[in-house]
Amino acid sequence: MKNDIIEILLTEQEINEIANKMGKQITEDYKDKDLLLVGLLKGCVPFMADLSRNIDLKLDIAYMAVSSYHGGINSSGDIKIKMDLDMSVKGRNVLIVEDIVDTANTIVTVTELLIHRGAKSVKIATLLDKPAGRQKVYVPAYIGKTIPKAFVVGYGLDYDEKYRNLPFVGILDPKVYIK
Ligand code: IMP
Repeated sequence: MKNDIIEILLTEQEINEIANKMGKQITEDYKDKDLLLVGLLKGCVPFMADLSRNIDLKLDIAYMAVSSYHGGINSSGDIKIKMDLDMSVKGRNVLIVEDIVDTANTIVTVTELLIHRGAKSVKIATLLDKPAGRQKVYVPAYIGKTIPKAFVVGYGLDYDEKYRNLPFVGILDPKVYIK
């Protein structure tokens, strides 16, 4: 599996440092607020586990699953809710935890939905930001690392459901998806 990676963008050590630093900042920013972390499955799982353990607050965690890719490498822009939250967001300060923001179609759609459902505030903490891919103007509140426009996998990020279990983030060899 590791042979399919042409360049490592974030090592395990760097990811730990990001989770630690971002967790401290979120702890400070939300210290007097009621915080609900919302993870977007499946890519958020490793980052949610690491980030949440670095936030020293009594918070809630909930998950939802939305899809946009349908197995390829380009976002379709057509967002579907595959699994909804198991708690209300009404009146709550929501922090969405994401693996990556690319076109921003997913995060803008989910933010609008949660605001519509009565969330008091909605922000995002993302491990990676790929601003070159934007189709909508959006600046995430918390960004682990800004990366160039490449297709990356690992640490939750997949290509066709594979590579999520890599402990680092790396650029996938285009030979894997260009047939
Ligand atoms: P957006 O709606 O285009 O911002 O895409 C967000 C979602 O697309 C992420 O949560 C990922 O699931 C997926 N995605 C975007 N870029 C990549 C990538 O480079 N590798 C793997 N998944 C990606």
